Amino acid sequence: MENRGADTAIFDVKGLLIQKVTLGSKGAEKETDFTIGPMDKDSIIGQALLVNVDAKTTKVNIYYQTTEASAALDWLDTSLTSSKTKPFLYTQGQAILTRTWIPLQDAPSNRITYSADLKVPKDLLALMSAKNPKKLQKNGLYHFEMTKPIPSYLIALAVGDIGFHDFGNNCGVYAEKELLFDCVKEFEDLPQMMQVAEELYGTYQWERYDVLVLPYSFPFGGMENPMLTFANPTLLTGDKSLVSVLAHELAHSWSGNLVTNQTWSDLWLNEGTTVYFEQRIMEALRGKEIADVLAQVEFNELEQTLNDMRSSNSYQDSKLHLDLSNRDPDIAMSDIAYVKGAFFFRTLENTVGRKRLDAFLKSYFGNFAFQTVSSDQFIDYLNAQLLDKTDLQFNYKDWIFKPGLPSNCSKVDAPRLSTINQYAAEFNKGKNPFEPTYKYEWIRKNGKRKRVKRTLTLSYQDHLIQEWQIFIRSLSTETEPARLQLLERQLHFGQSNNSEILCDWFVLASYSDYIFQIEKEVKQFLLKIGRRKYVLPIYEALARTPRGRILAQGIFHEAKGNYHSVTRASVWKVLQAKK
Ligand code: BES
Ligand code: ZN
Repeated sequence: MENRGADTAIFDVKGLLIQKVTLGSKGAEKETDFTIGPMDKDSIIGQALLVNVDAKTTKVNIYYQTTEASAALDWLDTSLTSSKTKPFLYTQGQAILTRTWIPLQDAPSNRITYSADLKVPKDLLALMSAKNPKKLQKNGLYHFEMTKPIPSYLIALAVGDIGFHDFGNNCGVYAEKELLFDCVKEFEDLPQMMQVAEELYGTYQWERYDVLVLPYSFPFGGMENPMLTFANPTLLTGDKSLVSVLAHELAHSWSGNLVTNQTWSDLWLNEGTTVYFEQRIMEALRGKEIADVLAQVEFNELEQTLNDMRSSNSYQDSKLHLDLSNRDPDIAMSDIAYVKGAFFFRTLENTVGRKRLDAFLKSYFGNFAFQTVSSDQFIDYLNAQLLDKTDLQFNYKDWIFKPGLPSNCSKVDAPRLSTINQYAAEFNKGKNPFEPTYKYEWIRKNGKRKRVKRTLTLSYQDHLIQEWQIFIRSLSTETEPARLQLLERQLHFGQSNNSEILCDWFVLASYSDYIFQIEKEVKQFLLKIGRRKYVLPIYEALARTPRGRILAQGIFHEAKGNYHSVTRASVWKVLQAKK
């Protein structure tokens, strides 16, 4: 470290066992005293590790061991992997969990380089968010280098029976060998995404872009660890319907990893910019019609979140810039940072025009590359580089510092959704829009004209997954179990292999006793999947009724060992809350 004459070096630690601390280089180390600061009960931030140093000390060596309380780490038993024969380990650092496996100054404003030497069982491959050896090392020894300064939450590690496929163009995918084939099919558009992203906002700065597909316990859809995005296996739908998550993680290579929020109060600068960028990649890849359907799903979620916040007295937290003092930064991860943040940029685009916004964003990523920014710095740059120059007005203060959605917020125009909205409206009126319809046609057979009857049945494949999501979410929560059964017979939502659909379906089912008819499927889902975005809403929905709550508690008791601590802690809170 740089030392400007300090006598104490302070590190963040949580759940670590510090054994000894020394100063100086290997071979010439000298042991030094250290103390561990107090830990408040239920402390979120952990403790300070205070190390006595000399005014000239630049090297501090901390000997330590992780513990059961090292919340970043997920040690998976063989039964929770695809191979069923080899164990797996991975870390999740964001927002403030890196301190639970590495003692360091764990704030996003602190950019560091790192290198690591690892020894792992000889039959397992080790990977980090750094330059990787890529191949199994027969001696089990691995060396990693991240030579660009990154914020501490992006240090990541995974160890398992992992294979690799190279897509070319500096892109590839790692996964447990059993999943690798599916990953290659699902993610084959990666090189194209990379090209689109670079055309939009400038050269990719991290040499390679590889994705690692983790086991099912991974708590997020994706995590943008530099050079090695972590991805959830629920993205493997077989139809590329959820690749926008990869577009999102790739976009973070600019928004987040290159230009990083200075504190978690400005998570919107990471996530809002990224969702906007993600939408632009999807538009280039799939066309505007489809991209707007995806954007509409997100906008609907934002409106729902704003309603929920209003009724739970947390509307103050619908500002883009949050006050997080003495609060868990995890709460910043909501549709506000993501979707309100993205609509900030969509609205700005409408105000200044796409060409100007794109030029602005490109110069923003270039100007702040490998640095951190606060909302205030962003605003200064926005004024200097975009608004003052063009004499255009934009109400950024309302957007960033006031709750709710400013009235100038851009609307999504997704005409494609009218059919699905109509189905929902009809179904809610007690009709069945999925009843087969018939059509008569004349055909010629053996020289004779013949009238034939054709049956037209609507099938699940006729619409995008996101359209079905909008459909399910538009259904009345008072829909009778018999009517849900009818839908299930026709569209098989409960049998879907898409977890977005399953999650929405189980949540809707929880509003009636229908949930107890499909208890087995719900349980199977919750035992297997650990992605918090899917698991949490189902537990929340179940916990609304006494009988559902008992079911939820029973399932959680069995499933909690399968979850990463991030998911486990969130579900725990929901099931603890007094009703
Ligand atoms: N960086 C986030 C995940 C995150 C945010 C973890 C804050 C911890 C604290 C990641 O890029 C992300 O946003 N994942 C989303 C993907 C989605 C919005 C496409 C997820 O996991 O659902
Ligand atoms: Zn993100």
